[in-house]
Amino acid sequence: MNQPQMEILSHDILVIGGGLAGLRAAIEARKAGKDVAILSKVHPLRSHSVAAQGGVNAAFNNVPAPVQDSCENHAFDTIKGSDYLADQDAVEIMCREGLDRVVEMERWGTLFSRTEDGKIAQRPFGGAGFPRTCYAADRTGHNLLHVLYEQVTGLRIPVYEEWHALSLVVGEGRCIGILAFPLFEGKIVPIRAEATILATGGYGRIYLRSTNAIINAGRGCYLAYQAGVPLEDMEFVQFHPTSLYGTNILITEGARGEGGYLVNVKGERYMERYAPHLMELGPRDIVARATQREIDEGRGFQGQYVHLDLRHLGKEKIMDRLPGIRQIAIDFAGIDPVLDPIPIQPAQHYSMGGIPTGVDGETPLPGLYAAGECACVSVHGANRLGGNSLLETLVFGKRAGKKAASIVRGRKEALPPSAFHKQAEAIRAGLRELSSRSGEESGFRLRDELKTLMTHRVGIFRRKSDLLSAKEKIRELKERFGRTAIKQNRLAFNHEWLLHLELEGMLHVAEVITEGALTREESRGSHFRTDYPERDDERWLLHTLAYKTPEGTRLEYKNVTITNSPPKARIY
Ligand code: FUM
Repeated sequence: MNQPQMEILSHDILVIGGGLAGLRAAIEARKAGKDVAILSKVHPLRSHSVAAQGGVNAAFNNVPAPVQDSCENHAFDTIKGSDYLADQDAVEIMCREGLDRVVEMERWGTLFSRTEDGKIAQRPFGGAGFPRTCYAADRTGHNLLHVLYEQVTGLRIPVYEEWHALSLVVGEGRCIGILAFPLFEGKIVPIRAEATILATGGYGRIYLRSTNAIINAGRGCYLAYQAGVPLEDMEFVQFHPTSLYGTNILITEGARGEGGYLVNVKGERYMERYAPHLMELGPRDIVARATQREIDEGRGFQGQYVHLDLRHLGKEKIMDRLPGIRQIAIDFAGIDPVLDPIPIQPAQHYSMGGIPTGVDGETPLPGLYAAGECACVSVHGANRLGGNSLLETLVFGKRAGKKAASIVRGRKEALPPSAFHKQAEAIRAGLRELSSRSGEESGFRLRDELKTLMTHRVGIFRRKSDLLSAKEKIRELKERFGRTAIKQNRLAFNHEWLLHLELEGMLHVAEVITEGALTREESRGSHFRTDYPERDDERWLLHTLAYKTPEGTRLEYKNVTITNSPPKARIY
């Protein structure tokens, strides 16, 4: 193995993650005059934000509706959608500031679709009473990400591309940077930073069926958890009702927003039974459960999927509003939605939980900030509304960048290198030990077992016996993980080692989700316990905080911030 030459890099602010939240944070910090850099394990334009399809919510009233939309309406729909677990002060900020953030993206050059009179087009989305979702056909994330990357380039913000974050470095009770691993080089590089912002996205790939990119394995959440930061509300895992059967590629909610029908094997629009007023535009948790129930109760096709039927929309509308999903259906299922219905099934889509933050991205660890899907502000509570995640990245990415910039005091060169050296040596020793093991267990097998377990036992419908057996199985997998090995002990291009580190994080994140789901004896939003089918505000109107201990996860709880909307029954 290469011996280190301990080059040390320093920045005022280091952003980890090149998706929308990370780029927006970096832009804000740079505009505040700070020396900011972005580290990303893929080129920023390959971040998972690029795959976001349907749109971004903001109450503009650009499309005629029976009544006027407002920030207050948007906030109420978000809170109701969250099953009253969202922190309402944060939701109000998001809905208010979101208007400016979307206009800013338009001014910077986002190619939004347009209304007849040239305004940003808006479409209806699930759980919203108004056509509030601004869109760029069905490639909204793609458009937004390219525009932000252009800004990053214009501001000359350096990007450490295909660099991995190995660990956060903590000194004297604060985060003072990270140890980084440039994939192409045989070294570990300490990066000192007065403020570090995690914007690493979600953990969808711990599930077998997920709409997430394969890079989304929860590494950022694990870095924080490993450094002593708790994880919040991780049991709330969002399942999207419409992923393409077979590959689980996202088929946007925008397809239903444009008028698509969900149909079972008997030809019924089954949402009539589950959300008679909103039908296919019920909130995601309800539509995903309804869809899974139809399949489980034998009203699916081949016991596996239902149909999303767009044929009545006509070719012109499909080509104009939904060209991306048409192409996906043709390329990956051999089906043209103009002519035939799309086979769909629910799949993991989003993580409502994450690293707890205040409304300026601050985490419980001084010097560490988080924004976007890896963070839990919490604006989504127990169930996120479609179109609110892109909004969250813009609003809270900017706020985190601004706040981080405000704490920079020009001390980066003074941050002590000793903590970095010690931690780097421990990582190198770990790699040596790992590659000297006989390795009777295969990390790939463990990964498959974990993903299958999470989809089948900690999925859309949960019950005590399944969760208990999942907990036991995760313990067993962790124990077997200790008997895995890797063959290569060099650093450069060591994908095998990176996969090993990723799996370690996935096992811990899975444990946190399972423990939270087992302990929460109620049903709320995406967390549905068949043995506790009702919401229980008396006992469970609380956020979960999970702490890492040598024995596993320890849970604590904290109150939800309620401002204007006391919990009510959630009827659609
Ligand atoms: O269905 C979608 O287009 C997804 C949107 C979202 O998750 O916000």
